[in-house]
Amino acid sequence: MKVTVVGAGNVGATCANVLAHRDFLQEVVLLDIKEGTAEGKALDSWQQAPIDYYSTRISGVTNDYERTAGSDVVVITSGLPRKPGMSRDDLINTNANIVKSVTENISQYSPDAIIIVVSNPLDVMTYCAYLTAGKDSSKVFGMAGILDTARYRAFLAEEIGCSPKDIQAILMGGHGDTMVPLPRYTTVSGIPVTELVAPDKLEAIIQRTKVGGGEIVNLLGTSAWYAPGAAAAQMVEAILKDEKRIFPCCAWLSGQYGLKDIYLGVPVILGKNGIEKIIELQLNQNETELLKSSADHVKEVMDVLDNMKVVA
Ligand code: NAI
Ligand code: 2OP
Repeated sequence: MKVTVVGAGNVGATCANVLAHRDFLQEVVLLDIKEGTAEGKALDSWQQAPIDYYSTRISGVTNDYERTAGSDVVVITSGLPRKPGMSRDDLINTNANIVKSVTENISQYSPDAIIIVVSNPLDVMTYCAYLTAGKDSSKVFGMAGILDTARYRAFLAEEIGCSPKDIQAILMGGHGDTMVPLPRYTTVSGIPVTELVAPDKLEAIIQRTKVGGGEIVNLLGTSAWYAPGAAAAQMVEAILKDEKRIFPCCAWLSGQYGLKDIYLGVPVILGKNGIEKIIELQLNQNETELLKSSADHVKEVMDVLDNMKVVA
């Protein structure tokens, strides 16, 4: 099995490195437009193999899509990250052109590949890749929910004083400050979170989760990469091992949750065919309103992309 990761920056290199460590792929190709970046990071990762005991062959290329040919999954991380003071939506102009050209190239050499988009603004860049690739939406989707849920789970574990492994949660909506964490669907080893965390503490954690990306941007001057890279790798693994994992992913909706013609974070089953099912939760009125308002925001940015006419 072969995976290409486009963009050998912070997130892409991390994703490729995590995938190599999982040791189930024959080959990971890391591609970047900047001369030497992908080659250097791939070589470093390959030299880690004898120490960390993996066999995955990882190689790097500069814009050479021929070397990506026949990939089963392609992860797109190319594009600008945000800087302090920027929203994810501020990246649309630059990143839409990048995502479009990358998708064209990967479609030429790996026409059957499943595409996972990571570049921001996530929901709209996934839409951009979908329009460009012209393939079924079950094969083009985005990574955000696993990361956002991981942040929520990490904050809860800290508050409760338990292992993050024991927090199960789901979160929906766009990858932005309008995302919708769902305490009603959050448990700690089966115990409803509301039995372990006081309402004011839970609300504070929800608010911190919503701006969790920005918290790191303010600390680092650029966006996060360890958790995002690992989250994208987890999606690749679920697909290529046909694990049928249930994850929140950015998926194309065609009527689910009363929403259509929009990419939005929802729980899905991920397996060898990509998104094999979109799970429809029985949301209450408040949750439905929050999801609708998140969808309205994403739709506005999708309209910006449509009006830019980047993708014909
Ligand atoms: P980075 O700046 O470290 O890496 C981006 C890489 O893309 C650079 O190495 C650059 O040379 C490369 N690149 C630019 N144009 C390219 C092209 N046409 N072809 C191939 N490579 C190209 O940025 P980082 O931190 O890795 O973030 C990447 C993207 O992922 C950003 O848009 C960021 O906002 C987004 N992101 C999304 C997350 C999510 O949850 N969906 C989480 C974290 C980041
Ligand atoms: C994050 O949430 C910026 O989307 C990026 O870390």
